[in-house]
Amino acid sequence: MAPLFRSAAPLSAVCRSAVRAIARTLLILPLALLICFAGPAAAAQWSPEQLTVPVSPDGTLVTFSEKEVKTGRKLFNESCGTCHAGGITKTNQNVGLDPETLALATPARDSVEALVDYMKDPTSYDGEYSISDVHPSLRSSDVFVKMRDLDDDDLRLIAGYILVAPKVQGIQWGGGKIYF
Ligand code: HEC
Repeated sequence: MAPLFRSAAPLSAVCRSAVRAIARTLLILPLALLICFAGPAAAAQWSPEQLTVPVSPDGTLVTFSEKEVKTGRKLFNESCGTCHAGGITKTNQNVGLDPETLALATPARDSVEALVDYMKDPTSYDGEYSISDVHPSLRSSDVFVKMRDLDDDDLRLIAGYILVAPKVQGIQWGGGKIYF
């Protein structure tokens, strides 16, 4: 009786510590995986190809840094997000910020310079007349007060973000528009 009882105690202690070891591994494993895979992925989130966009209508290219695009995203969300979140145009779904729609505008708006120009003096989609009285711009910053704090470099970064976003997000940028 006695020997059996004595050996049972250490055995259950071994079991308990084994269970504890497994539990610890189960806790640490996801953390370890997260560090292994999320770390490098976050460090190089966007490829140089995704960060390279036309700077002017003649097709000259510029490569933004991730930091610039992130600053551009912040400025865009603050100044343009209420109407253009995700690259759509809430009150006019036909004139979104997706690359195809920008390219078909007159003049074409699918370059950094053309977008900066739009933020200074926006025009109707056919380029016929200025819409600065109804669209936020530096020209109308007396009405659209959010435009007052933006300088030329801010406009450049916002334009960079508008052009990089679809290369990162794909068709989600612009509302996953369906072309007929
Ligand atoms: C109050 C709502 C509103 C805000 C804020 C706003 N927009 Fe717009 N945006 C519009 C509307 C509406 C149109 C469509 C204009 C038209 O009918 O041509 C438009 C059109 C545009 C276009 C033309 C798109 C194309 O395909 O030709 C660009 C570029 C643009 N906006 C950029 C911006 C940027 C950059 C900001 C922030 C600095 C901004 N908008 C802030 C409402 C807004």
